[in-house]
Formats: sequence, C-alpha cells, structure tokens
Amino acid sequence: MTKDHEWSDEKVKSFVASMEQKIDERYTPFAQQILQYSDQFHTNTVHLMIDIGCGPGFLGLELLRLAPGKRVIGVDPDKRMIRIAQRKAVEYGVSGFEARLGDAEQLPFDDGVGDIVVTLSAIHHWQHVPTGIREVYRVLKAGGLFIGKDRNRAHRKKQRDAEHDQGKHLNGLTLNEITTILQEAGFKIRLALDEAKYTIVAERK
Ligand SMILES: C[S@@+](CC[C@H](N)C(=O)[O-])C[C@H]1O[C@@H](n2cnc3c(N)ncnc32)[C@H](O)[C@@H]1O
Repeated sequence: MTKDHEWSDEKVKSFVASMEQKIDERYTPFAQQILQYSDQFHTNTVHLMIDIGCGPGFLGLELLRLAPGKRVIGVDPDKRMIRIAQRKAVEYGVSGFEARLGDAEQLPFDDGVGDIVVTLSAIHHWQHVPTGIREVYRVLKAGGLFIGKDRNRAHRKKQRDAEHDQGKHLNGLTLNEITTILQEAGFKIRLALDEAKYTIVAERK
C-alpha cells in the first residue's frame, strides 16, 4: 500500500504535462457527465465525491469548478501524484479539494461517508479490482453512486493489447467483467456504455 506507482519520474512528468493539455477534451466532458448522472440517478444532495486513482487531480478540480460548494477527495497511492494534485488545486483556485494517499484496495475513509465515487482510467491499475469495488461499496452511503470510466479490453486491438499486457496493465477489464464484479459486491447497475472506454454507473443499495 502507498507505494510509488510503477511509472518513472519522467513518465509522471510527461503524463501530467500531456493531461494538462487535455482538460477540455478529457476531464470537462467526464465531469459534466458525472454531474448529469448524479442528477439523474442520485436522489440525495451530493456533499462528498471521492476520486480513486486521482493522479494530478484534474477530474476532481473540474468537478469543483462546475459544481462549486461540493467537496472532492482524490485518492492515489503515488506520493508524487498527491503532491502534484495539491499544487494543481492551489493553481486552480477552487475550494473543497483534498488529495489523500491511499489505494483502491484499502480506501482511507470510514464506512458510508461518500455520496459519489468516481474513477477515470485507473481501474486497470488496481491490484485487485473485486477488493477495490468492495471498498467502494463500503465507503459509499446507501443510494450512493459509483461512476467509472476505463479502457475496455474488449475493444482494444489485439496487438496493442499484447504490447500493453507485457507491462502492468493486466487488470484491463471488459464491460461484462466490471459489471459482474459490481453486481457481486451488491451494486445495482444503472447505466453501462460499451465503448472503447466503458462508462458504468452503479448504485449502492
Ligand atoms: C492513468 S493514471 C489516471 C489518473 C487520473 N485518474 C487521470 O485521469 O488523470 C492512473 C492512476 O492510478 C493510480 N493507481 C495505481 N494503482 C492504484 C491503486 N491500486 N488504487 C488506486 N489508484 C491507483 C496511479 O498512481 C495513477 O495516478
């Protein structure tokens, strides 16, 4: 737990620089989608959103820019990402953001504190997805939502998969696989988009 990610310092730097150029195409639309699903599927007022594998924090910061007054806590096992996310929060000038060291398999929260848990392009990095999803269930309030978007193994070209899987991306899932894991943890699936990156919205009973 809380080990540095397998990425080199150079890779972290280039990832953050390249993602910073993609706020409008990558983070803003997903943040808008999250807020829309939250209105559509969540009946209570949203206070706390948790972003698992938050990296540089751009998703949470976009959520706060679009929905000021909420609280977002980003969680990441990589200390470098946590430091960067904290710095980006200051640069963004939004309030309500916190970055916490931790991983999906052992979330640093008490039971039932979160209204929404989100995750973008991170599930395929988790060490053990069923454990992470059970943790998501534990930290959500009843009726809370999990909204995840990640690479969909079923849509990857074979060659690219083979190259990728020589690295640390062995947990890349299909939409069917993540659906089953969520249902086994007790979630009710509210929406599932089977695209190159799947999007799944699941409700904690
Ligand atoms: C591709 S990056 C995506 C970062 C961020 N969600 C974004 O879209 O900018 C994957 C992130 O997952 C984090 N990560 C790796 N193992 C993890 C785990 N077991 N639990 C949660 N996050 C993890 C990495 O440190 C990294 O920041």
